[in-house]
Amino acid sequence: MEAIMRGVRGSIANPSPDTAFYGGNTSCVELHTDGGALLFFDAGTGLREAGDSLPGSGECHIFISHGHADHIMGLWFFKPVHSPEWIVHLHLPDWLVHLPDHFHEAGFFPVSFSMLKGKILRHPVRAGENLSIGAGKERILVQPVEVRHPGGGLGYKVHADKALFVYSGDHEIAGTTESLAEAENFLRGADIAVVDAMYGREDYTPGWGHSAWEDWVEAAARAGTRNLVLTHHEPRRSDRDLDALDHRLRNIVHSGRLNVYAAREGMRFAPSGPIPFTRFGSDWLLLFLEEIARYRDINAVLDRILAKAREITHADAGTIYLAEGGDLVFAYTHNDSLFPVDNAYKYAYATVRMPISKRSIAGYAALTRDSLNLADVRRLPPEAPYGFNSGFDESTGYRTVSMLTLPFFDKTGQTSGILQLINSLDPRNGRPCPFTTGMEFNARLLAREVSSALEHSVLERKGIYGILRMAEVHDPAETGPHAERVGSIAAELYQRWVEKLEETPDRERIRYEKNRIRLAAMLHDIGKVGISDLILKKPGKLTDEEFAVMRGHSQIGASILAGDASGISGLSQDIALHHHQKWNGRGYPVVNGKTPSGEAIPLSARITAIADVFDALVSPRCYKKSWSIEEALGLLRKEAGEHFDPALVECMLELSDVLPLIHERFPDPPQKAGMAGA
Ligand code: C2E
Ligand code: SIN
Ligand code: SIN
Ligand code: FE
Ligand code: FE
Repeated sequence: MEAIMRGVRGSIANPSPDTAFYGGNTSCVELHTDGGALLFFDAGTGLREAGDSLPGSGECHIFISHGHADHIMGLWFFKPVHSPEWIVHLHLPDWLVHLPDHFHEAGFFPVSFSMLKGKILRHPVRAGENLSIGAGKERILVQPVEVRHPGGGLGYKVHADKALFVYSGDHEIAGTTESLAEAENFLRGADIAVVDAMYGREDYTPGWGHSAWEDWVEAAARAGTRNLVLTHHEPRRSDRDLDALDHRLRNIVHSGRLNVYAAREGMRFAPSGPIPFTRFGSDWLLLFLEEIARYRDINAVLDRILAKAREITHADAGTIYLAEGGDLVFAYTHNDSLFPVDNAYKYAYATVRMPISKRSIAGYAALTRDSLNLADVRRLPPEAPYGFNSGFDESTGYRTVSMLTLPFFDKTGQTSGILQLINSLDPRNGRPCPFTTGMEFNARLLAREVSSALEHSVLERKGIYGILRMAEVHDPAETGPHAERVGSIAAELYQRWVEKLEETPDRERIRYEKNRIRLAAMLHDIGKVGISDLILKKPGKLTDEEFAVMRGHSQIGASILAGDASGISGLSQDIALHHHQKWNGRGYPVVNGKTPSGEAIPLSARITAIADVFDALVSPRCYKKSWSIEEALGLLRKEAGEHFDPALVECMLELSDVLPLIHERFPDPPQKAGMAGA
């Protein structure tokens, strides 16, 4: 069973830029059963679009709750009623069987039902008289129930696929204990309940035939409902209002198995809960979500999100900030005018942090949880609490004009980050122009839908930190930032190496591999967890015996990682085991009786060897002071062809501009740095 929200507005359709996200169409829910039956509940304006996506022939059932225009209007615009290849069963409350004729006779519609080409069969429905559709295991039982609404109305309980779907069009449940008890009865045991929550208690108007969402939530909690979907939104409710409602629902409702949602057009539900988003058959979004689901690394995910956001808005540049504590931390950036694609990687390592406050544009969007579409950042409204920070423009010579800023939300509804897009370029002349409403809409859609991928990749990174922290028990100061830096250097080294090697590099594959190497290289020294503190933290030079023990960290690491069920297990084992092998064959450990040399050492390990030694040299250690970058690169150059793969050393030398940035991005903790100076 699957229910699709086709129209979620009450009273009157209200399509506008402010309602585009939740949708402006009036009441309609589409229900598919596993046996292939197609049912609709109410025929508001949402029915039209539902019809457009149907095949050329078939059979369906439409159940009408009552005759108010917002529940009926879509009927005449539903593709199947115009097609002789379709059979449409129209189930109407018995007092309304002639309603469609009246609509024509009263001059509301130019065509009468008898003139339509579709095969339309009308069936009167009475409360308490159940009806069934189909037979055998696939039999569907529909129970019409009387509900409270001026002029009368029916709700429907549908038993199919061992689940219960419940729908009421317009339905007033507040006011009396009796009506609340009825509501509870109506919802009892429902897997999916779609109900009229036009109001909240603050704007509830008794007697108008609609309910406040708080009353539904209470009734549903008592009735053991699983998924309560609030719909028939008051037409003036903007996306922002409904976002606020959605935010409240996610935070306050945690009783039993109940989950509550603010309905939005295109949302789909199975009895177990919402099905990932597929609005408007937006292939670009769906394909994109599938693509980023493959990436586990945060940098790769950020890179793809930014690239897609820029593609759909024609933005010249963009930045993603992630919320961390009370700050927004610069996480990723693209800027085509300043640094062409090949160079953008550098700016993945910039370090910027700003407090979340209304004074910055990004902070304002984070706090208000709304998007901010500015046509010209130098002509802000005088009353705006935020100002444009021109520091970046001044230091680079770039000229920011239009700016679109929007929030990402995590699954509890908190702002998890900010997407900031800069200078939408007019495709005709390449000049910056304002972001259109359509672009803003698509970017908002994107930001919502990628939020969970973003969250997963943040968690993935935290998981790696978890493993690293285990090692930090021994070596707290060194392991974290060292691992980050080695991971980043290894990733950039890999990219440079492939791009030099291949004439037409496959960017998608590079991005994917790069992200795996970053994660795997971060774990290169995990085996140090098995080495005694006496050796690991010894201030001076190790004795031969001690160093023999120390060398064991390669094998210990590989065996720890053999138990890692994640997709990078093989790669991370290779790296852990071989990162101290040398190009000339004089490294460690001995594997199968010998130490490999040259290309017999896995590429990932040859890469990590360079990243690891470089970072060990430029960092302070308990046994040595830090070297300068030039000194460290000097050693790599000297050891090219001996310790290191010479081709990779050459790539490393070409990265000299990004290396200091990586170091700045992941600094050692202060107490550590202080010790080193001593
Ligand atoms: P690590 O500190 O992460 O160093 C990784 C690698 O960087 C070393 O691998 C070595 O190839 C290179 N490296 C580090 N410092 C220097 C240096 O001052 N000069 C030169 N030429 N190369 C350097 P290696 O030697 O196999 O050591 C593996 C691990 O053993 C090191 O990881 C460190 O944890 C430990 N270790 C090595 N030597 C000493 C030492 O003298 N005292 C102590 N306490 N630990 C040591
Ligand atoms: C899209 O939504 O796929 C493209 C939007 C645009 O390019 O403006
Ligand atoms: C902000 O959002 O205020 C920071 C970005 C900028 O102003 O350039
Ligand atoms: Fe209504
Ligand atoms: Fe090591």
